Amino acid sequence: MQKKESLTATRPNWADLWTGTGPSPQSSTDSPTNSDLPLSHREIRVRPPVNLLASPRFVALDVQHNVPLAPRTSLELGGPARYLVEAADEATVIEALRWADDRQLRVLVLGGGSNVLIGDEGWDGLAIHLGLRGLESHTSPQGVRLRVAAAEPWDDVVATAAAEGWAGIECLSGIPGSTGATPIQNVGAYGQEVADVIAAVHVWDRRAGCRRVLLPDACGFGYRDSVFKRDPTAAVVLAVELLLQPGGAPTLRYGELARAMQSSGATTVAQTREHVLGLRRRKSMVIDPEDPNRRSAGSFFTNAVVDTTVAEALVATAMQQGLVDDAAAVPRYALDDGQVKIPAAWLIEAAGFRKGERRGAVGISSRHALALVHHGGGRTRDLVAFAQEIRDRVQQRFGIELRPEPVFAGVTLR
Ligand code: EPU
Repeated sequence: MQKKESLTATRPNWADLWTGTGPSPQSSTDSPTNSDLPLSHREIRVRPPVNLLASPRFVALDVQHNVPLAPRTSLELGGPARYLVEAADEATVIEALRWADDRQLRVLVLGGGSNVLIGDEGWDGLAIHLGLRGLESHTSPQGVRLRVAAAEPWDDVVATAAAEGWAGIECLSGIPGSTGATPIQNVGAYGQEVADVIAAVHVWDRRAGCRRVLLPDACGFGYRDSVFKRDPTAAVVLAVELLLQPGGAPTLRYGELARAMQSSGATTVAQTREHVLGLRRRKSMVIDPEDPNRRSAGSFFTNAVVDTTVAEALVATAMQQGLVDDAAAVPRYALDDGQVKIPAAWLIEAAGFRKGERRGAVGISSRHALALVHHGGGRTRDLVAFAQEIRDRVQQRFGIELRPEPVFAGVTLR
């Protein structure tokens, strides 16, 4: 069994943050940057409510009505937002949140739209489309610190880092979407997770009504998980600080990538990016307007994380059913906490689904069994019905429940 690193973070929820050692939002006047603090230090730095000139009270909101959301998502599915605000600065984000709170409306924060599934009836609340841009870097004793505004396209950040030779995010090349979304689901690929390099996450705390800067331990990162994902209404990510290593070696932990690098004699961070892009293209995991699998949300399910007993039972079932000749043929990776990660793509194919299989206007990508795709002219309910069929059959065959990975807005799995 291959060994795969996992995060051993404790998993705070948003409310737990107030029981920690950090200052209360009213008491702190510290600068939010914290670059002088050890990164593992659990502390929350808070800036007082925005200064007077930037006060949301002076922001004129342009609230649009009945705005189609499908064109703003990579799946191109779903109905309109009842209200939508384009927020190009923090003051507009904050004022839009207050506007929604005053009317008791639910809020959907939209970034790049590459990891969201919108219901056919649309979003009966306010959608805030983030447009916060900007990227700053400075050198610190620990490495290069990059502060990136939430709406910066993630892959532009990776491209910049790779070109500069800053190690830490090269394996996260080619991931669509915005930087602000990356800590929410702790994006990961090819042996890296964004949590490995996050130095701080700047958020607007909706309940306390103030800006906060969370250091990594307060973010509760896990596999495709964080405090932001567990309590999506608590905060809006405004910016992310990354700590990268200039001249550092690339991470070559993922077998498929390490083999590709070795066979071509590649060694640098920039070459790693090119190899990752190549691997992703072959799986239709880079958005390409010519690709028939292009309308997707990447992985539709997270990989299964199960106890060893469940993994052993799976191996026994797979052998009994003649799916594999020997135990080693069931892919699985031991995690540091003793649990086992099983690729959902393998479970889906082992349950009898095929790449390229269709149910009308939706189907499974022809290049990767974990990506569900929309072929055009379909509805969210078609995709959800197919996802349920996949989840139910995997559950019946193997006793393992697959969980969806994208954010669901105005729709749920049964
Ligand atoms: N596999 C299949 N059929 C397939 C594809 C994969 O059986 O069609 C099995 C194989 O055994 C393969 C294993 O699944 O060895 C793992 O496949 P892959 O390396 O493609 O990775 P994954 O576990 O399916 C995860 C992430 C991807 C990320 C890749 C590469 C999740 C939910 N997905 O997929 O992230 O790019 O690893 O690191 O963890 C995303 O989250 O949207 C995403 C694309």
